[in-house]
Amino acid sequence: MDEKIRSIVIVGGGTAGWMAASYLWKALAGSVKITLVEARSIPKIGVGEATVPNLQPVFFDFLGIPEEEWMRKCNGSFKGAVKFVNWRKTPQGGKSHFYHPFGIVPNCDGAPLTHYWVKNHLEGRTTEPVDYSCFKELPLLDRNLAPRGASGDRAYRYAWHFDAHLVAEYLRELAVGWGVNHIFDDIDHVIRSDDGGIAAVSTRASGRLEADLFIDCSGFRGLLINKALAEPFVDMSDHLFCDSAVAMALGGGDQSRDGIEPYTSSIAMRHGWTWKIPMMGKIGTGYVYASRFTSQDEATGDFLKLWGLKEKTAPALNHIRFRVGRNRRAWVKNCVSIGLSSCFLEPLESTGIYFIYAAIHQLVKHFPDRNFNPVLIDAFNRNIETMFDDSRDFIQAHFLSTERDDTTFWRANKHELKQSDNIKHKLAMYDAGLPVNMPHTDEDTYYNAFEVEFDNYWTNGSYYAILAGMGRIPKHVLPRLRHREDSLQKAEALFANVTKRTNELVTKLPSNYELLKSIHRR
Ligand code: FDA
Repeated sequence: MDEKIRSIVIVGGGTAGWMAASYLWKALAGSVKITLVEARSIPKIGVGEATVPNLQPVFFDFLGIPEEEWMRKCNGSFKGAVKFVNWRKTPQGGKSHFYHPFGIVPNCDGAPLTHYWVKNHLEGRTTEPVDYSCFKELPLLDRNLAPRGASGDRAYRYAWHFDAHLVAEYLRELAVGWGVNHIFDDIDHVIRSDDGGIAAVSTRASGRLEADLFIDCSGFRGLLINKALAEPFVDMSDHLFCDSAVAMALGGGDQSRDGIEPYTSSIAMRHGWTWKIPMMGKIGTGYVYASRFTSQDEATGDFLKLWGLKEKTAPALNHIRFRVGRNRRAWVKNCVSIGLSSCFLEPLESTGIYFIYAAIHQLVKHFPDRNFNPVLIDAFNRNIETMFDDSRDFIQAHFLSTERDDTTFWRANKHELKQSDNIKHKLAMYDAGLPVNMPHTDEDTYYNAFEVEFDNYWTNGSYYAILAGMGRIPKHVLPRLRHREDSLQKAEALFANVTKRTNELVTKLPSNYELLKSIHRR
């Protein structure tokens, strides 16, 4: 008997819903009837999102969409790093900020250059911070230079900023054009099947929608997975304290004066941090804070003060309360949750959209038939769990390692966060000067790979950029470095090469603003 999945209903038309609809249509070659239902009355999240670099190869290339095409439709801009501002008490090397770039740390005889930097630093032979020593792109970021030259060759690795609402609209047009069935309606009721799964969803105007497989992209509501199937949400607010945000879009941007910054900024505040996401003609910004340490009014006051605004003259403010954690199981019976209905943590490293495409890719990899083999479901759930928990730990490492201790929020982050064995182990490795998370391939191949390794996604370069950037320097030199005088000399040549390469690029690259202007005009 043919047990193939014949129909899929996706609930929710935010970024998650439309990414899932378009990707599944392509992956299943249009062989399955896909219906997406979204309520006009329930707004979707879209605050000006920042992403991570493999979105083009793993998602847009898969759909056959060139980078500049979707960038034009979605107000895309470039992001070469996250710049952390005010996360340190003592400026390092005279700088009050540090970067987490997407660039690749050169390797020297089997050890990343960061380890040679630690040796130089501990022996008092460098005062340059780790990021400026080991990544070639930082002076380029400081000057707001584009990640690509006029001829299109990439100068540094980058991701994108965009407007998530526009991404959802763009993908909707494409997917509907391909054959995805789209309904604007409110789901008011979920009908369970005899085996405990979902038989249908009942809508206000369009009646009952039946399917073999349901995808819950209903956002924080978790309409199918949490409300109908009662799958518990594992709250992780003891691992990460931030649970609220106040966001707004600033018009104009600073492109005419300074150029558009080719990075996301994360500015530490009294009870959290503020993102700044520059796009053409606007800046998306929001203060992510912990409601147990500050009130909405106080947070809003601090946020407006940062931007020199008064409540009366400020743009519309969007207050968002979010849940931190993940579903115990992302996939239950015939229902798979993707996006905010599945898991969420504060966007300090722009993980939301990465979690979405990772889940969609895993769903295709473990695509079921109507028997819903539990082995497939378990494998999917294990991957999502690892992906989320490892990222949660990486984000937590930022808060554990910052020098800031000026408010109860920052002190509690140092002393009261619940830590997993995974992060304890990784931080112990780091403090001992050992590599944390070495990718199995070189980082360039790794970032473009379909098969991301979820327990290893945040590379050694990421851990060193963040932790050393925060002022947490390993206490020991990687012991084997002391045995190879020739490697130490090679490393010095590599440090010099980082500077040489930067100097060459500084003279060649257009400004980020010029490149974006030419892309958006075309
Ligand atoms: P979303 O809430 O957008 O959509 C839910 C959909 O379900 C809507 O279409 C709604 O109408 C529908 N729906 C709900 N109930 C329904 C019902 N009863 N009937 C019919 N339809 C119903 N990510 C990132 O990668 N980088 C970043 O910088 C950020 N920044 C960020 C900041 C903040 C404060 C938040 C909260 C989130 C982010 N994110 C992020 C996450 C990112 O915004 C998010 O992952 C995507 O927009 C996807 O959202 P969803 O589609 O899951 O839900």
